[in-house]
Amino acid sequence: MRRRRFLQGIAAATFQPALSACMRSAREEEQVEDEEPEGIALQLAAGSINRMYGSAFSEKMLNASSRARAMTLTQCASITPEWSLKWDRLAPSANSTDFTAADAIANFARTHGKRMRGHTLLWHQGVPTWAGEQLQNTREWDVVRSYFNAVMPRYGDIVDEWDVVNEAIEIGHRPDGLRHNQFMEAFGPEYIDWAFWTARDAAPQARLYLNEYGLEYFSAEEGARRLNLLRLLERLKIRGVPIDGVGLQAHLDLRKGKVYREGIYGLLRDITNMDLGISVTELDVREADSGGSLEARDRAVADEVRRYMDIVLQFPNVGSVTTWGLSDRYSWLRYKDGGRRDNRGLPYDDQWRRKPMRSALEAAFLGQQSTT
Ligand code: XIL
Repeated sequence: MRRRRFLQGIAAATFQPALSACMRSAREEEQVEDEEPEGIALQLAAGSINRMYGSAFSEKMLNASSRARAMTLTQCASITPEWSLKWDRLAPSANSTDFTAADAIANFARTHGKRMRGHTLLWHQGVPTWAGEQLQNTREWDVVRSYFNAVMPRYGDIVDEWDVVNEAIEIGHRPDGLRHNQFMEAFGPEYIDWAFWTARDAAPQARLYLNEYGLEYFSAEEGARRLNLLRLLERLKIRGVPIDGVGLQAHLDLRKGKVYREGIYGLLRDITNMDLGISVTELDVREADSGGSLEARDRAVADEVRRYMDIVLQFPNVGSVTTWGLSDRYSWLRYKDGGRRDNRGLPYDDQWRRKPMRSALEAAFLGQQSTT
């Protein structure tokens, strides 16, 4: 309690714009029945233990909803463009670039004093068709280099951390556990080294991260993913590749059971021992396919988040936690193939009511027993 009052004091003293947005959104929220207790902003709770809290943020949230903007400003210290920084969005054709959406999100961050996560440079699902073809035909690294040079310096003032390579691991593709993607096809496994070197040149001040998913559960597949990620990191470190850290996407999934404490702990310990930073980059929860009252479902989501957070926050090098959205209304899980259209895996429901997941995050940051 004393700590909470102290934090509110800090908020009043140093976060005036955020606070007024907070009061505005609190008034808006009075219009709906809200059973979750009023908490302190997640960015402040995280800030109290020197972590940064942020959320994915889309053009849709920016343009269509004042509530989404206000809540993002209140709760978040950083935003991650959900789509707008991906290569296929920025360069839809070989001879044209389109920074409109990325710039709009970046300017929103600049205007309000937020940081932006740079997500993501090389991702097999985000390669424009023309670039895929060009890579295959010419095998020229310059295609990649000019893209990094066009995007990284443009946002150098607000992006501290870039996901340079996204989802490089895939089981069953190759003996070394690397994914066979367009970059592998054109350049071989060294594409990862080159990506980090090129990114270092393009943005010498930025922290450079490798972002990965599928690392949280007890299964042969996820065990192999953890192992192959560690092997990759070890090879990169031995070769002196300029990598600063690892992004853990953390798309939790209740269909897979409960997060595997020992597996996650061991992974983070080994990453830490390699002297790398860690960011939780895309936290959300996919629900089981059926069953349960709303209350039970929300509790299951919150409990899973709390279990996960309690493991990762033991590591001081976990510098930031980003949820893949704030409100279920905008969650990708609702339109992903095979996903529940009513999935409730984010801190706020689709009417922006706080849910137990939000309390679980706050309690984890504040080191308190969860009230859920
Ligand atoms: C997803 C977005 O949320 C979707 O809106 C888009 O259609 C596809 O990309 N891992 C990642 C993210 O690294 O970039 C993905 O985001 C989700 C999985």
